[in-house]
Amino acid sequence: MDILISEELRAPAIERLAKTYQVVAEPKLWQQPDKLRALIAEARVLMVRNQTQVTAELLHGAPKLLGIGRVGVGLDNIDLGRASSLGIVVAAPLNANATSVAELALGFMLALARKIPEADRSTKAGNWDRKGCTGIELAGKTLAVCGLGRIGGTVARLGRAFGMRVVAFDPFVKADSAVVRESGVLLCGRIEEALAMADFVSVHLPSTPETRRLFGASTFSATKPGAYFINTSRGAVVDEAALLDALQSGRLAGAALDVREFEPPAARGALESLSNVVLTPHIAAFTVEAQERTFEAVAADVERLLSGQPVLNFVNFDRPKR
Ligand code: 3PG
Repeated sequence: MDILISEELRAPAIERLAKTYQVVAEPKLWQQPDKLRALIAEARVLMVRNQTQVTAELLHGAPKLLGIGRVGVGLDNIDLGRASSLGIVVAAPLNANATSVAELALGFMLALARKIPEADRSTKAGNWDRKGCTGIELAGKTLAVCGLGRIGGTVARLGRAFGMRVVAFDPFVKADSAVVRESGVLLCGRIEEALAMADFVSVHLPSTPETRRLFGASTFSATKPGAYFINTSRGAVVDEAALLDALQSGRLAGAALDVREFEPPAARGALESLSNVVLTPHIAAFTVEAQERTFEAVAADVERLLSGQPVLNFVNFDRPKR
């Protein structure tokens, strides 16, 4: 088998691959660990989104695996270190969806600032409540961008285009780096410094042991009272119970979440019932353009891999070793 696809992945780029290579596509395979282990033992390439847990154990049972094509940018479901030590290249087009994710973050800011979802609900219910839908402007407000990578940097630039003052926190970014110069942000040494100034907080962090539940009771109490909180990164970076407390106590004015700790959430909870909370089903990268760029880039790398050429979008080491 050339390519094993263990999640729902459909696109013209995959259809083209299937014309040349032997592809086994099982959209629910990520939920069937025994079958996944059996099939991966024969696969040369694995293609995934973020649901397949590509663990060390799974990789050890994949002696023919040359590489993994991640159709997306979050890498928290793949044991990158183990893949590297086994000589398995991981390809993920890290630039492919930054614009789409950043545009959703700005959309959330506008939705919260101008109460667009509430105004929509109220108007469709037959009301004409102009005063009740009074909002605030983004211009002149301070935006704190947490995580100044490709997506965070784009959010910072878009925020500045709206006339916002942008502050940022990212322990991996230096004050003299290009992203700081180009996005015109004030880089803070501590996250609390950025949060204390923020009218809007936008999170763009990967899910790692260090960022797990980083946004909890203590970070929310360090945030400027009345701020809006936006997360389009990973649900694991937020303690949802602490977020709910911060919203119910009025510490935060509102929140927008595209990502949740459990996806989909097991049941409708209190967050779902708050009118100042906007929720979407992990759609930040779901635009026609971002999906096309992502699929095309991953498919091209899979072809390179299967025809013995080095992949372009490798994220774990320089050259495939198998
Ligand atoms: C990403 O990590 O690229 C986005 O969160 C989209 O993830 P997906 O692979 O589940 O679509």
